Amino acid sequence: MTKRAPSIAPQRRTVLVTGANRGIGLAATRLLARQGLRVVLTARRMEDAVEAARAFGAERLDVRAEEIDLASEASIQACAARLARAGIEVDALVNNGAVLFQGDVLTTSSDDFRRAVDVNLLGAVWCCRAFVPGMVARNHGRVVNVSSGWGAFSEGLDGPASYSITKAALNALTVSLARSTSGDVKVNACSPGWVRTRMGGAGADRSPEEGAEVVAWLATLPKDGPDGGFFRDRTPIAW
Ligand SMILES: NC(=O)c1ccc[n+]([C@@H]2O[C@H](COP(=O)([O-])OP(=O)(O)OC[C@H]3O[C@@H](n4cnc5c(N)ncnc54)[C@H](OP(=O)(O)O)[C@@H]3O)[C@@H](O)[C@H]2O)c1
Repeated sequence: MTKRAPSIAPQRRTVLVTGANRGIGLAATRLLARQGLRVVLTARRMEDAVEAARAFGAERLDVRAEEIDLASEASIQACAARLARAGIEVDALVNNGAVLFQGDVLTTSSDDFRRAVDVNLLGAVWCCRAFVPGMVARNHGRVVNVSSGWGAFSEGLDGPASYSITKAALNALTVSLARSTSGDVKVNACSPGWVRTRMGGAGADRSPEEGAEVVAWLATLPKDGPDGGFFRDRTPIAW
């Protein structure tokens, strides 16, 4: 009689998504959880994370609510510490949460400019610093920076100033971080297109799920996938 080797369950990967209580972040959470990944659904306010995660319980998907306020480095570090205590290793990070304020360089209020830099750029930097070293140490990781066509020099930085400038800087972070990581750690940015969310408005041409598709793809890239690129609809676009 031949003995069967004990089957080893494949390791379940964990993805952390910021600003996941609504819009593209919530849709990306759904796509990724339905692919069998564990998702850490984070939101600026814990009650919003809990409320958003509740819906996934009915589908028996593995979604854990956590609080991350991107404007607070301490909030990001506190979340990382809670996950470490719970034995949860983050394999993929989706820097999705963002704010958009109207105005050009001369008319945007100082508070709005500072807030955009804190949330759209520095929030992503602090998240990378909290979670990417673990990826490098384990020789596996994926970082997805949810950027915008409005952050592309190639498309004219054609949006409100504090938004376009911080998204262009997020693109720069993508290139710079990809250069500082080695092994099977991939860092990419994407433009989700114009999406029907609170930010995109009701007239946008894409559903949140359509916008989230490129995000979920980059978060689950295979080992031979791209690194240090900018994508829309799974196609490279110019910075
Ligand atoms: N919609 C589009 O057409 C479009 C186009 C290009 C790029 N994008 C990008 O796609 C991403 C998602 O946007 P969306 O369209 O889904 O917009 P959305 O529905 O307005 O969602 C924005 C998310 O960011 C979160 N957020 C804002 N400030 C935060 C903070 N301090 N800490 C943590 N989370 C914070 C919001 O949380 P609260 O609910 O707590 O405010 C919300 O969950 C953004 O990076 C955006 O720039 C969107």
